[in-house]
Amino acid sequence: MANSGVDEFYEIIRLILAKYFAEGEGYEDLPDKRKCDLLLREHGAEVAFILDGALEIQTPDSIFKEVRRIFGSTNITGQDFTALDQAFEQLTSRSYKSEKGQYFTPRHVIDMCVEAVDPKPGELICDPACGSAAFLKSAHTHTLKNYGETAKLYGFDYSHRACQVAKVVSLIGARGEIKVEQMDSLRLPAPTLLDEEQETIEHMMGPSFEGFDVIVTNPPFAGDISVEGYANGYDVARTSSKRLERDVLFIERCIRLLKVGGRLAIVLPDNKVSGKAFRAVRLWLGKNSEIKAVVSLHRYTFLPYTSQKAAVIFAVKRQPALSPYESEITFFRSDAAGKASNGTPVYRDNADVDHPAYIALDHDLDEIAPQIRSVICAA
Ligand SMILES: C[S@@+](CC[C@H](N)C(=O)[O-])C[C@H]1O[C@@H](n2cnc3c(N)ncnc32)[C@H](O)[C@@H]1O
Repeated sequence: MANSGVDEFYEIIRLILAKYFAEGEGYEDLPDKRKCDLLLREHGAEVAFILDGALEIQTPDSIFKEVRRIFGSTNITGQDFTALDQAFEQLTSRSYKSEKGQYFTPRHVIDMCVEAVDPKPGELICDPACGSAAFLKSAHTHTLKNYGETAKLYGFDYSHRACQVAKVVSLIGARGEIKVEQMDSLRLPAPTLLDEEQETIEHMMGPSFEGFDVIVTNPPFAGDISVEGYANGYDVARTSSKRLERDVLFIERCIRLLKVGGRLAIVLPDNKVSGKAFRAVRLWLGKNSEIKAVVSLHRYTFLPYTSQKAAVIFAVKRQPALSPYESEITFFRSDAAGKASNGTPVYRDNADVDHPAYIALDHDLDEIAPQIRSVICAA
């Protein structure tokens, strides 16, 4: 389609939505273009809520034939949404390429985080850097499966495209129950009532908002922010004289957005967990939360995108204290990433790779998750 002038991002989303609506009407294959357009128009309100621009398929007829051949028999809603997930892995990883330090979070890492913090029905769950809303979709599945009801799910991302993908995931994968808002999540509420009210998460949540029960997130790993400007309102800004890494701000932002007793799972580059330069940030975290567990992820976990080592910190928010909370921290090390050194998946013996593929990966995070859950729930 290189010369067709069609924006591939929007067209792929239109095709996915058309296939989804067609499956809802019992079609196994992608119907012809006329029927696809009809379906998109019939569901115009849902489509317009997600996409800007045309409601109709833009792909020229000659290429549409090829699309039907390749994509037609792929089941969007079956196999626990494996196809949808993989499509968005490609789409979002491409659009992240231009931005430093944004990596698609592997689904088994997400499930470990969600399993460990164990969101419950009715609780407020948030991902302030939600990307394709994968953490929230996992939380939706977790609460439905374990408790028969869902939690209240909120995703924020400053990227318009990420929000559009998140809305598709919400519609197709979570019955539309994930609320997605485009927002710079790092923006802090105005310090005094005299200051002008800005668009912030707190503002959007309304006056009765007292904090989230759970935050599960993988913030961007890189990209500095000048200490002047809005980063100035952050305590951690005092730990650096010039520039701050975005993930450091996200650590403080997440703690601020939680209610006391709220649970946090945050994926971070390894230097935040062990680097000398970030000792002051860890001290801040220790004074504002009980750090309960740290999982050191395998170097291959984020392949093929990066071999950067990462870890997940699990913490429970407390009232700010003068010295760090004396929490007992359990350290885990993942030795099986479910990936080979070239980034290809490694499956368990006799695995059924279709239901869905990532569940069959040969990794050890599902052994770790219940152990973290027991220390967090004992908090
Ligand atoms: C590592 S990606 C998250 C990936 C996501 N968990 C997934 O698997 O799809 C980080 C996300 O944070 C978003 N982001 C970065 N800075 C932000 C900010 N200040 N406010 C809101 N979102 C932000 C990026 O647009 C990106 O989607």
